[in-house]
Amino acid sequence: MKNTILLSIALVVVGMMLLVTAASAQTGSVSRGGLLYDNWRKVVDAEAPGNDHPLWATQSTNTRSGADTWRCKECHGWDYLGKDGAYGSGSHMTGFVGVYEAAQTKSVDELAAALKGATNPDHDFSSVLDDVAIADLATFLKEGTIDVRQYVDYDTKATRNANENHGKELYGSACAACHGADGAQINFNDDAEPEYIGDIAAGNPQEFLHKVRAGQPGTPMPSGIELGWSMQDVVDVLAHAQTLPTGEEMALTLPETGGNRLPVTSLALVLSGLLTMGLGLAMLAVQLQRRARLWAGQD
Ligand code: HEC
Ligand code: HEC
Repeated sequence: MKNTILLSIALVVVGMMLLVTAASAQTGSVSRGGLLYDNWRKVVDAEAPGNDHPLWATQSTNTRSGADTWRCKECHGWDYLGKDGAYGSGSHMTGFVGVYEAAQTKSVDELAAALKGATNPDHDFSSVLDDVAIADLATFLKEGTIDVRQYVDYDTKATRNANENHGKELYGSACAACHGADGAQINFNDDAEPEYIGDIAAGNPQEFLHKVRAGQPGTPMPSGIELGWSMQDVVDVLAHAQTLPTGEEMALTLPETGGNRLPVTSLALVLSGLLTMGLGLAMLAVQLQRRARLWAGQD
């Protein structure tokens, strides 16, 4: 009797562990697919193909070359809409199709097949991506892509139906630790032309939505998909991020120090304070020990 109870408890525990693993593998593959879509070389740690992607030569409007031409997002857009989306004009324009429609109409297997050249032999990524990566990408396309036009007005780049106050709360708890309350703690560009969260949110809301949902390849930045955020949560954070200062605005308000020096300075101060305190304590301990030994007549 006792054995049966123990056995059932053990089975339930193992079963729950399996369920948790299965669930995290499931969501993990969607968000990993999103990271791969952004820049697969930073996820699978592959060598950069030295040449342009074979399909690149079939367009001439986007003049980038080399590694950029192998990124899914460069040909199909941050909004998965290709020529029908934000990359329908500007320096990223290629005229290539989007993937959002295919994601709605095709199965995961068919999407994976397209990544192995089934629809076009030049669209075969199997020499650089293994089956797991291709399955993650296909899963992301099927389950992770969204119609960005529902959330962003493409003419004004403003969010639709966002709750900025809620976004501010989420930003404070999930982003500020790394990016700073004003978004200026991490500079995505150089000192001469700093680029902060405020710049991406205002200038490229499509990219912002993708990065917040999938995370940033090659960094510990968390994925909104894995955190279980709803689209409303992500759009609310975008609305708040659009109120944060851009690099240009920060340069105007902080001409001398630059935006991100203060936190570094205070961190250094705290660290040196702790170090000094530690040293002081150690010296005190040595003194006390000496005194104790003196009193005991050992020295
Ligand atoms: C160099 C540009 C380029 C890159 C990089 C690229 N694609 Fe494509 N993709 C195309 C073109 C062009 C087509 C349409 C040609 C075709 O398949 O007949 C296409 C088609 C597709 C299709 C099929 C669409 C449909 O309507 O059937 C899917 C899915 C797709 N791409 C996903 C991806 C993913 C995921 C990546 C990243 C691993 C990627 N693509 C990288 C250019 C590119
Ligand atoms: C654990 C630290 C961390 C957290 C938390 C974090 N990020 Fe990031 N984020 C990074 C790093 C590191 C980068 C890459 C910086 C670089 O490429 O120079 C980044 C990049 C980005 C980018 C892309 C910039 C670009 O153009 O490449 C955006 C947008 C962004 N973060 C928004 C957010 C938002 C919004 C949140 C909260 C939901 C958040 N991040 C939470 C560390 C973090």
